[in-house]
Amino acid sequence: MAATDIARQAGEGCRTVPLAGHVGFDSLPDQLVNQSISQGFCFNILCVGETGLGKSTLMDTLFNTKFEGEPATHTQPGVQLQSNTYDLQESNVGLKLTIVSTVGFGDQINKEDSYRPIVEFIDAQFEAYLQEELKIRRLLHNYHDSRIHACLYFIAPTGHSLKSLDLVTMKKLDSKVNVIPVIAKSDAISKSELTKFKIKITSELVSNGVQIYQFPTDDEAHLPFAVIGSTEELKIGNKMVKVRQYPWGTVQVENEAHCDFVKLREMLIRVNMEDLREQTHSRHYELYRRCKLEEMGFKDTDPDSKPFSLQETYEAKRNEFLGELQKKEEEMRQMFVQRVKEKEAELKEAEKELHEKFDRLKKLHQDEKKKLEDKKKSLDDEVNAFKQRKTAAELLQSQGSQAGGSQTLKRDKEKKNFF
Ligand code: GTP
Ligand code: MG
Repeated sequence: MAATDIARQAGEGCRTVPLAGHVGFDSLPDQLVNQSISQGFCFNILCVGETGLGKSTLMDTLFNTKFEGEPATHTQPGVQLQSNTYDLQESNVGLKLTIVSTVGFGDQINKEDSYRPIVEFIDAQFEAYLQEELKIRRLLHNYHDSRIHACLYFIAPTGHSLKSLDLVTMKKLDSKVNVIPVIAKSDAISKSELTKFKIKITSELVSNGVQIYQFPTDDEAHLPFAVIGSTEELKIGNKMVKVRQYPWGTVQVENEAHCDFVKLREMLIRVNMEDLREQTHSRHYELYRRCKLEEMGFKDTDPDSKPFSLQETYEAKRNEFLGELQKKEEEMRQMFVQRVKEKEAELKEAEKELHEKFDRLKKLHQDEKKKLEDKKKSLDDEVNAFKQRKTAAELLQSQGSQAGGSQTLKRDKEKKNFF
């Protein structure tokens, strides 16, 4: 059969054909292994738990090393996240390990918003990855992926039940990260109480709808893992073992009869590390990416459920934007016209008021003028009357002087009376 025929058939439905000899693609898994080893791996753990619950000690115990880190005080005003990255090497495999730990979790009187900085941190790592993915020149193979692959949630060994802070926080985190609850410092709790405590926690998680990480290899019996952390070593038999020593005896961290530490290490690191990475990418990141792109207006299908390409989405968005811009422009124009009309009316009103004032003042002025004119006229009349009387008096006087001096005295008297 010709190669083109085989290619055509591959598109229509595969047909198994025997190979006459060795071709070499059976080395593909090895090629993948080699490629992965040369690239190295990265794994990011988030430890959420109240101050002093043994987060740092457990990390040291899990990775058999001493990571630096100062204990937190109980006086933090809010919850913070502290992130440290380490390069680890085991055989020929390199691992870039990031440990993020909550600082001040559970120390505030009002714990309502304690989960918020944690959610924001997880989202920020998703956002950074999404931004890298959306770049034209992507460098994803070199990119330091800081997305959280596993969140160890430390439950206090109260033997009682979960605190509402635990339930609220785990509920807020369960759609964003693989939540693995662990009972911290489980040496503080007796064996029978521990069994009851585990059942109680599991039922509370179920009844509150908290979706914890499901290990592909079922290990429900141990969940949540009861852990003990310690880096102190003691020779027992001919072996050095990690222990916590008490006046009444010794707890061995790696003894499965004492706690679930070994089980957790197996499930977290040796068996499911890749699944945790895979779940982070295909489930949690995918959900974040989908919500974010939908929020930005991207869709895979149009309202009639027909495929909608990126180009079409872009054009639809652009048209929508231009339409909105035009609408805004029209609104602004209308507003401007309205403002001008209002200002015009205001000015007209002011002009009218000025005219009225002017008329009022004019009338006042005319009245005043008329009053003054009337007064002047009456004064003129008075002056004229005075003048007439004066002329008459003078005439009388001249006539008197002609009539004789004897009567002068009398006339003077009359004149006095006259004035
Ligand atoms: P912060 O970072 O300050 O919030 O504390 P942490 O959660 O990192 O706790 P850390 O590991 O510093 O441990 C606090 C104390 O608890 C130390 O004295 C540890 O020795 C002790 N501790 C740690 N793990 C365990 C444990 O499994 N059992 C008991 N009994 N004590 C433990
Ligand atoms: Mg610590």
